[in-house]
Amino acid sequence: MNTTHTLPDTTTGYTHFNLGSFGFRRDEYFAHITWSTRSGQPMSHTMDVRAFLAALMRDVAWGFFYGGVNFDDVLGTVNHYQSVDLQAGAFNASFKKAGVDLLENFSTADIKQVFEEMLDDWTNTGFDPFAAPQETGLAYGKKQGHNRPAITRARELASRCVGLAGDLPLRTDERGAPVNRQFADVPQDVPELHPEPGFEQEVHAFNLFAFLSRSQVTWNPSFTSVVKYSYMCPTTEEHILPILHSNDRVEWFFQMSDSIDWNCTHKNTGEPLARVLMRAGDMAAMPAYCRHQGFSPKRSMLLVWENGSPKLVYEIANGETPEVPVQF
Ligand code: PHB
Ligand code: FE
Repeated sequence: MNTTHTLPDTTTGYTHFNLGSFGFRRDEYFAHITWSTRSGQPMSHTMDVRAFLAALMRDVAWGFFYGGVNFDDVLGTVNHYQSVDLQAGAFNASFKKAGVDLLENFSTADIKQVFEEMLDDWTNTGFDPFAAPQETGLAYGKKQGHNRPAITRARELASRCVGLAGDLPLRTDERGAPVNRQFADVPQDVPELHPEPGFEQEVHAFNLFAFLSRSQVTWNPSFTSVVKYSYMCPTTEEHILPILHSNDRVEWFFQMSDSIDWNCTHKNTGEPLARVLMRAGDMAAMPAYCRHQGFSPKRSMLLVWENGSPKLVYEIANGETPEVPVQF
């Protein structure tokens, strides 16, 4: 693998990272990304380090997600499910026109290793990249300790229904999952169950709103139900989605509470396509050619519905499946 770690920077304490032709360096406020353009010229890009780490956290935790994860209008990754592209400006019309973009492909294992090490080295004690800005300390300053517990959070995996005997217990205060400050009004009652005798271990239900009101993280879809390739991924959102997601399939949003405003642009160029203002009860579908970023002024509940079929991206590429949910 073409990665080399230079010694920690003597003034800030952070390690520099290289991956292929890309270099990554952080200082007290910024992440600096460098590369050589297609014609060999040195090029660089700067991001607020809080925004960079919040995006990096998602890319690492989601295993590079579906399609493209853009850290901003310039930097991003594209998941090919065996390998991953790292790119700067490759989906930005102005960068393309100027010929200053670069896209390189890496094995998933190699890019994962560098991204995990960078996240670990650049995340200070007290900063949680998964938390809403008002619920965590600052990302800024010189290197100070680490926050490994926050960046290596394991998903809680249920194999049947949450709360069913023998499966994942419900979230409670005692289990370290208090109701979030912004969901204090969410009723915590539980559904009434009347299973036929003999089916008490098989019939179950839980209060999804109560479950979500106790989520400690933001912008992190988790699966609540998996039926074949239909994945219901409810999540709690506050502030800005730390990535601009480029779809490689149609994706559905159901705004279950409060509101999120979305910016939708073309995934190949960044050309603005739509503003989608979602209020509680609204549903929207994001076509396979768009990239989107959401803004949630108050913590809200969003259900992301994904078609997880591993064949879908190839069916769309060869025209068997449309890029849009309906053709009028
Ligand atoms: C998305 O890119 O569609 C997405 C990602 C994370 C969320 C919500 C939506 O929490
Ligand atoms: Fe998305």
